Amino acid sequence: MKTKCGVLMLIVFITINSICKAQDSPPKTYKEQYRPQIHFSPKEHWTNDPNGMVYFNHTYHLFYQYYPKGSTWGPMHWGHATSADLIHWKELPIALYPDSLGYIFSGSAVVDSNNTSGFGKKGKTPLVAIFTHHDPKGEKEGTDKFQNQSLAYSLDNGNTWVKYKGNPVLRNPGIKDFRDPKVMWYAKEKKWVMTLATKDHITFYSASDLKNWKKESEFGLEIGAHGGVWECPDLFPLKLNGKIYWVLIVNINPGGPNGGSATQYFVGQFDGNKFTPVDTKTRWLDYGPDEYAGITWGNTGARKIFLGWMSNWQYANQVPTEKWRNAMTIPRDITLKKVNGEMLLASVPVPELKGIVSGLATTVKTKLPAQSLLKMRTASLNDYTITLSNDASEELVIGYDKKTNQYYIDRTKAGKVDFQHDFKGRFVAPRFATAKASDLTLVIDGTSVELFADNGLTTMTSIFFPNKPFDHITTKGISLKQAALKSIWK
Ligand code: FRU
Repeated sequence: MKTKCGVLMLIVFITINSICKAQDSPPKTYKEQYRPQIHFSPKEHWTNDPNGMVYFNHTYHLFYQYYPKGSTWGPMHWGHATSADLIHWKELPIALYPDSLGYIFSGSAVVDSNNTSGFGKKGKTPLVAIFTHHDPKGEKEGTDKFQNQSLAYSLDNGNTWVKYKGNPVLRNPGIKDFRDPKVMWYAKEKKWVMTLATKDHITFYSASDLKNWKKESEFGLEIGAHGGVWECPDLFPLKLNGKIYWVLIVNINPGGPNGGSATQYFVGQFDGNKFTPVDTKTRWLDYGPDEYAGITWGNTGARKIFLGWMSNWQYANQVPTEKWRNAMTIPRDITLKKVNGEMLLASVPVPELKGIVSGLATTVKTKLPAQSLLKMRTASLNDYTITLSNDASEELVIGYDKKTNQYYIDRTKAGKVDFQHDFKGRFVAPRFATAKASDLTLVIDGTSVELFADNGLTTMTSIFFPNKPFDHITTKGISLKQAALKSIWK
């Protein structure tokens, strides 16, 4: 009897103890409140721009601005993650650490198949990273020359990196903001072309060996948006009706269409020396407040895949997450379209997203899974609203307003909005399509929505932080199809 009683007591003790422990222990990684389930975010700590995006040996590499010692911006490293399908990511050890030349700011990576750099050994193709060395000492001392371009290479599929002894390879001529090199192979002249953000314009450089850079030309002093510093550019060709056009992406901060950071682009021609735009209109790749520093993967052939940082410098350091801060957008396929005589970029989620759609889309229910894909198609576009809500009287409203011909996302009452004064708001985007018919895709991930309207001609990204999950959906003037999306984290 005595032993039976003892065993019972022991069981009761263990049970109570484990319940208490479970309550005390922090939520498992990737299960925390506000953790994106279908977007890449680092396991812990701070991230901003995507960097060094390159496809190599059936693997998509994503490097990213990373501060491994805290959850606010700090001395920058390149974090590293890889994916076989652009959706499921594996975080790897840090690729690049700061050194005596400074922090590792944004940049790109290329596959040097012809070993033009000479970094290749024993027939191994080098992956070469071209990045900005940002010297914090020089910055403090008030010089203008604290940002210079440098190289690192990897001979083992990006797992380990060696910095080039001759760094920096492109010295600052005296421009305070001199950064974010995006390098591509210009096959016609067998040379590398570097597109560099140089304060309020772009400077193009070329080199045959990735080391000896020569200035080609400048672009943009009097063209485009100039409400802030030009950063993180990209240059690549895209075909439309059999003709090649060149797209020049220029991120800008602040000065975006809905405040703060945003991605503008120009369409034109590039002849290896000079970029000439087809017109001088300012155009935005994503009108929402939360897509920035977006650029494309290199080495993907004719397909162009775009990825942005899903935040805004206005409040990126204050958003209410602590273990990690900030995430990337869903990768998007971008194409050129001609609408009303204008050359426009269209973005849609990569088709690989289908791999995590669970079950066939059915007509929308009022219950909303935390991660969901919503779709509609209509023959005649009229006002509509889609409201995501919870039982804490919080809501996120997405819609189209015929009178102004604008799409919008309103996060005014979407939960935590007061951590920074620019966060609260209703954001609008023009409709570019002119047909009566319209379509919409919404990718929802608990704390973010990405809107793709009219086959991606209008795109908006917005994050939000409800106090309780938005688990309810109502619609007006629209009928949606809905499917749950499976978490990418095991
Ligand atoms: C853009 C940016 C880049 C810079 C990096 C620093 O968000 O300011 O211009 O290289 O972030 O983290």
